[in-house]
Amino acid sequence: MASMTSSASETFEIPMLPFGETRTPEDYLGGAWHRLWRSRTSGRLLSAPEGTGTPRIEYWCGAEPARLRLRVDGVPSAPSVLALNLRGVWTGVAAPVRIRVRVGDSEESFEVDRREAQTKLVQVPPSAFRGDLLVVELQADEAWEDVDEAEAALPFALACEVSAVAIHADTNACLAWVQSEYDAVRRYRDELFDCGVSKLGDRGQILDKLLLTLGHLEALGAEGQFAIPTLQRVLDDPHVQGRGSGEIRFDESYLLSHGRELREGLVMQAIRKWRAGMEAFHTSIVKLGNRAFLARGEHRLGAPREEDALRELVDGISIPAPKLQGLKERNDLLNTLELLLQRDELQSVVPSLEIEMSSFCNYACVMCGRSWYSFQFARQSDQQLLQVLRVMPYLRHITIAGVGENTTSDRLEVFARMTQVFDVETRIFTNGSKIHEQLDALSRFDKVCVSFDGGTAATFETQRRGAKFDRVLRNIRLLRERAPDIEIAFSTVVSRINLLEVPLIVQHAADLGVDHVALSPVWEVDELRLRASDQKVFEKLLTEAKRIAKAGRVTLQVNVIPEDFSVIDDKPLDVQATRDFANGLDFPSLTVPSWSELERSLSGMEFCYHPPTWVFPDGRWPDPPPGGRRAEPVAELPMAFDFDIDAALEQLDSKIASARQALADAEPSGVQIPYCLSIWKYTYMHANGKNRLCPQVFTDVGNVARHGMQGVTNGEKNRAVRRTMYGGDLLDHCKRCLDPYRRWGHDRVAEQVRKMGLKPLDRSRYSVTHGGR
Ligand SMILES: C[S@@+](CC[C@H](N)C(=O)[O-])C[C@H]1O[C@@H](n2cnc3c(N)ncnc32)[C@H](O)[C@@H]1O
Ligand code: SF4
Repeated sequence: MASMTSSASETFEIPMLPFGETRTPEDYLGGAWHRLWRSRTSGRLLSAPEGTGTPRIEYWCGAEPARLRLRVDGVPSAPSVLALNLRGVWTGVAAPVRIRVRVGDSEESFEVDRREAQTKLVQVPPSAFRGDLLVVELQADEAWEDVDEAEAALPFALACEVSAVAIHADTNACLAWVQSEYDAVRRYRDELFDCGVSKLGDRGQILDKLLLTLGHLEALGAEGQFAIPTLQRVLDDPHVQGRGSGEIRFDESYLLSHGRELREGLVMQAIRKWRAGMEAFHTSIVKLGNRAFLARGEHRLGAPREEDALRELVDGISIPAPKLQGLKERNDLLNTLELLLQRDELQSVVPSLEIEMSSFCNYACVMCGRSWYSFQFARQSDQQLLQVLRVMPYLRHITIAGVGENTTSDRLEVFARMTQVFDVETRIFTNGSKIHEQLDALSRFDKVCVSFDGGTAATFETQRRGAKFDRVLRNIRLLRERAPDIEIAFSTVVSRINLLEVPLIVQHAADLGVDHVALSPVWEVDELRLRASDQKVFEKLLTEAKRIAKAGRVTLQVNVIPEDFSVIDDKPLDVQATRDFANGLDFPSLTVPSWSELERSLSGMEFCYHPPTWVFPDGRWPDPPPGGRRAEPVAELPMAFDFDIDAALEQLDSKIASARQALADAEPSGVQIPYCLSIWKYTYMHANGKNRLCPQVFTDVGNVARHGMQGVTNGEKNRAVRRTMYGGDLLDHCKRCLDPYRRWGHDRVAEQVRKMGLKPLDRSRYSVTHGGR
């Protein structure tokens, strides 16, 4: 419970945001809402509501107004516009609160909703500034007849809360701000439905999720049928079928037609509601799909199929390994020539694949991103794997990883066979829980990386929620017995939970016959991150770990670098406190709602492709663009593999010859190594068949099930991003990218270039921004 000390009015010194800028409450005012409240019991301490997440509760007492003192950077000489994010406190009393806002001589009175924040706009004359200070007074009009009534109503009798405050230089700056909020939501919508501005033949992630969920529900036959009409309605919506449309211009004329709605915060509220509706719809689809996935038992391996056409097909393929290796080498070379030639559309196959066999996971590790979000569960289908099969002869390397547990996929064994037939170098990441059920599959890979985050059961099971330490130990022993020649590695995420057990982890590796231990730093979760004061401890433990590794013939790879020991928020290591923190976490990935909960949430959901009609300048939605279409159907490939290796080799030779010729004819300045090689050399395929732009960015670049691997490689988004890699128009996230994957395969490229006697301009070395060294 927060304590309160003052009995009269409070003033809050709030640093001003720059003109024209606003931020959400989450990143402003220290993540808090300022609570302004009053009772008629002047001077008496009333209890504060618990669990509001507001660290600084202040109170507003008696008839005095609450005052916000805003310090500004530069006083405007013309009237400016103050934007205040206000909400009434808590529900319980249905009526909105009326708040008076006074700034200098200017006074406005607003109704403030008790549930949702609304951004109210107040005109501020230059005379209202006292030096660099602007004093804003807020006073609630709410009146309670008697003290008992006020006290009885608490915590509902509170007045209002204020969060993000911004001051806009003038009306135009204010309109620009509304415009940018609207544009941001529109971009969000377009990414979700239309894959941004690029035509990809791909319809954004939501439609794929929707179709997957519909497919699951239809196959179920009984449960979850309530959702089908809603999902179908969205799919049939002509606005959804058309591509992003309906821009709104928030200009002077909008001010004339919608001045009151703007000032009262109704426009902003509608924009935010619109976004929240789409988000809620997205989450509902994912949760419905996940419930259906579980109902269908797709998270379990199940009995082996009696008839397995894909396995039969794969087992019937036989291509001599030397020819396959020749094909891979030629494909690599063509790929390199193409990137030197600045080709955005590739004739070569991207030679490295990361594939996620299942996005379901039976753990919820405390540091893992998937534990925090509602991921859609999916497994690689036979149709998707058939698409991969078509490019498999050309692939050099496959990592089976992603954001789920691959050993829960019933296609892992078939996939392992595929990689063997085509002589692809492989490694797989697993949490180790189901090795005993997948021994055959796992023993077919070159390298099995078991995520191993503790030397004792208590530590291991804290960081890897859902794990059984003894089961994992037993499983590694089983795998070592079954596959004595494959490489087994520990992949250890070093955190403040397991730091002290690093030597013990290496000892386990030595005892179990594990070949390699890779130590990497934890990212994302602040409380688990290593701090500067841990560095000495780590170094000492590392010396011990190295000794154990040497004695046990384990190779040790240390990916923890000095920069990983953060100086921010340094505090002494307290393993128990960190564990308590971890044990207290709750994760959405573990909570798939029941059918009845899903039905309830779906019935209360508001989904709209556009904001309400009244928000549009002419009070109506734009007409949906003609020729709208649904997501393209999944291509049904025949269960066949027609591949003539000799013809493929010949074709590659001829393509290489023309690429070499093109290089010889090219202007010397035209031969360049691009800023990022990963978009030529590496591709990532989600379990639902969608490919992602790169290891760093979640942007979808196409659906393999619809367009095949080559179709996606050469989809419009991939091509557009490739084109940015030679000039000054890099995407923002590319400019900031520190991922080593950015120079994926660089040494190989450099070697090929050297052999060819070329001296290309190497843009991969550009650091902070593109175009400057
Ligand atoms: C996302 S998992 C997927 C494969 C499999 N389920 C597993 O646990 O090995 C891939 C690897 O990322 C690691 N990882 C997860 N969250 C991490 C984090 N916040 N920081 C560093 N590595 C993390 C996991 O420990 C695991 O080794
Ligand atoms: S087992 Fe792997 S995918 Fe699952 S939660 Fe842990 S790290 Fe993430």
